[in-house]
Amino acid sequence: MRIAIEKDKCAGHARCHAVAGDLFALDDDGYIASTGFVVPPGQEDIARRGARACPERIITVVEDDKA
Ligand code: F3S
Repeated sequence: MRIAIEKDKCAGHARCHAVAGDLFALDDDGYIASTGFVVPPGQEDIARRGARACPERIITVVEDDKA
């Protein structure tokens, strides 16, 4: 499982980071720092919650691969 992020559309709400700060790191300006990542084993639920928390809906959960 992995997470895909439309980084250039981030508005800096930081809800993703509030839910799962270890997964959704922010840059120095308060915007999401990455365009996506592979979800570590056991963190799938928190990753989904972080994705759902974004009001801009720019975080997508991709279930295609095994972590
Ligand atoms: Fe950006 Fe959404 Fe997180 S706007 S900081 S990806 S909650």
